Amino acid sequence: MRRIIPAISLLLASTACTTSGVAVAPETREPTMIAPILTTPDALDASTYAKPQEARVTHVALDLALDFDAKRVGGTAALDILAAPNASEVVLDALGLEILRVTDGKGRELGWRMGASEGEKGAPLTIDLVDAAGARTDHVEIQYRAGADAEALQWLRPEQTAGKVHPYLFSQGQAILNRSWIPTQDSPGIRQTWEARITAPKPLDVVMSGIIQGEPEDLGDGRRAFRFVMDKPVAPYLIAIAAGDIDFAPVGSRTGVWAEPATLARARAEVGDTEEMVEAAEALYGPYRWGRYDMIVLPPAFPYGGMENPVMTFLTPTFIAGDRSNNGLVAHELAHSWSGNLVTNAVWGDSWLNEGVTSYFENRIVEAVYGSKRAKQEVALDYMAILETLDEVGRDAPGTALHQPDGTESAGSAIIYNKGAAFLRTLEKETGRERFDAWLRQWFDKHAFQPATSDMIYADLKANLAGSDAEAERLKLKEWIYSPGLPDNVAKPDPAAFATVDAASAAYAKDGTRPVGWETWTSAERQRFLKNLPRKLDAAELAQLDERLGLSASGNNEELFLWLELAMTNRYQPAVPQVEKFLGHVGRTKFVRPLFQALWNQSDWGRPIAKRIYAETRETYHSVTQGAVDRLMAKE
Ligand code: BES
Ligand code: ZN
Repeated sequence: MRRIIPAISLLLASTACTTSGVAVAPETREPTMIAPILTTPDALDASTYAKPQEARVTHVALDLALDFDAKRVGGTAALDILAAPNASEVVLDALGLEILRVTDGKGRELGWRMGASEGEKGAPLTIDLVDAAGARTDHVEIQYRAGADAEALQWLRPEQTAGKVHPYLFSQGQAILNRSWIPTQDSPGIRQTWEARITAPKPLDVVMSGIIQGEPEDLGDGRRAFRFVMDKPVAPYLIAIAAGDIDFAPVGSRTGVWAEPATLARARAEVGDTEEMVEAAEALYGPYRWGRYDMIVLPPAFPYGGMENPVMTFLTPTFIAGDRSNNGLVAHELAHSWSGNLVTNAVWGDSWLNEGVTSYFENRIVEAVYGSKRAKQEVALDYMAILETLDEVGRDAPGTALHQPDGTESAGSAIIYNKGAAFLRTLEKETGRERFDAWLRQWFDKHAFQPATSDMIYADLKANLAGSDAEAERLKLKEWIYSPGLPDNVAKPDPAAFATVDAASAAYAKDGTRPVGWETWTSAERQRFLKNLPRKLDAAELAQLDERLGLSASGNNEELFLWLELAMTNRYQPAVPQVEKFLGHVGRTKFVRPLFQALWNQSDWGRPIAKRIYAETRETYHSVTQGAVDRLMAKE
């Protein structure tokens, strides 16, 4: 039997005072918590070179300059190290970093070596903790520059912004991209506190996933310095930065939103329910522990819908629909403040612990703020996506298990997100909401600011929710977490959720009847109808659909995307200019990849179009989106 009680490394004191003080003088800093690391085999992260049991980073202090002309960041990373008594070196992760010099912070040079690079994992950067004179240090300062094509960073030309005047920068760290601009141990199980001093040219503002300290300092050379602190230990993929011509609008007392001036009013209106969402989340699963909850609505090149960077959620502007109908996104990123940021998957093969638990939590927030009709419809859409994926890859495909051992490739977001959420929904239904909620809350409380694994949640569910082997058996806990497919006790969506829409779909399929009430439908209902449409439609049918339902003029990008995808799947030439325009400014992988895929699937018709468009748009995408499209076009 595999050990399921986490062994907390003995290396670690429960509290310790971190040292370096680039942004905050050491004497003014609160003693910060050092989070434990897990040492069981299931918590071993194959994506890092770090050997945290020998030496681990506990605090990162960045002092960096943003160079928008060279599209480079560079400066100093000062790291506090907790090392075993006999450890003589610390191993970091580095992807394309240029290391200039490493010292102990007192001017003494330290030896370092960059090992061989292995694709996206990058290379091990090993630093000696003992100097030439034999003195040991627990502090290293790295002078460095990120590479010109740092994978985490996207530098936007002014034309790629709403304002068209100033350049823009943002980062995306998850999963293992932050090693391209920060030399540290880039593993979700090695939590670190951090602080940063960032300089940027005027008039740009800088935000980070930490609390800003005071007003920016004018450096007198056309630049300003911004200071940030994250005093809670976080997984390093959660360190994030954005800089541009951006303004702030408050939403509630601890919530607000940043966006370019041209986008701010629409952004502020769309996220108007955020304070209420935070209150709903707290009522469900305990206090919000991060202080402020702010958001930034980025330019449309941002490769994801949202990213849960602590105290500063990053959002795509494509979620703005004018009616808050895509605000499940905000609920989702907010929920990560518990599942993901507070309790974090120790390894990426357990990312259902982040995304599945969050998707469940998201739906509970949506239910509390927008009501059970909308929540049930979103559950039904998610359930349909699980079935689609299972049909596509087969119910015995290893990638359909929630826990993904190293070497297996997940069958995608319908598993990690939707099957993960369906698991918790099933437990809720089987054990009752009250009991289930108490269990989930104690899970968050018990593991706050710590990493977790599938084995740990399995043991916890067994002990604290099921209470007996027989009940664990009945709930099928093991099958849900470790087996492919969908256990037969799955809580099915409410069949009434889409009764009206599904009747309208049937009528349309029979004789082309126009769906009655389309204008008054919820966005989820429209998406359901669009997904129900026959996959093969001819040009006349598509033209009629567009004319009757105004699909190509939709202000909701989720609906517009479904229409454009359907149009490309059916070689509908009149929609090509709009697809080209869309792909020319939207970089969100969820939209970009399937649109290129739909074109790619229509070989003789679509491939020349896809190649022509991609030749123009590739350089406007983040490395994540480029990678996704490159891969699909590499396949026959
Ligand atoms: N953390 C994810 C984004 C992510 C996942 C980045 C994996 C890198 C690797 C974020 O919380 C997310 O799930 N975003 C979704 C939101 C949706 C499910 C509401 C997205 O971007 O579409
Ligand atoms: Zn997520």
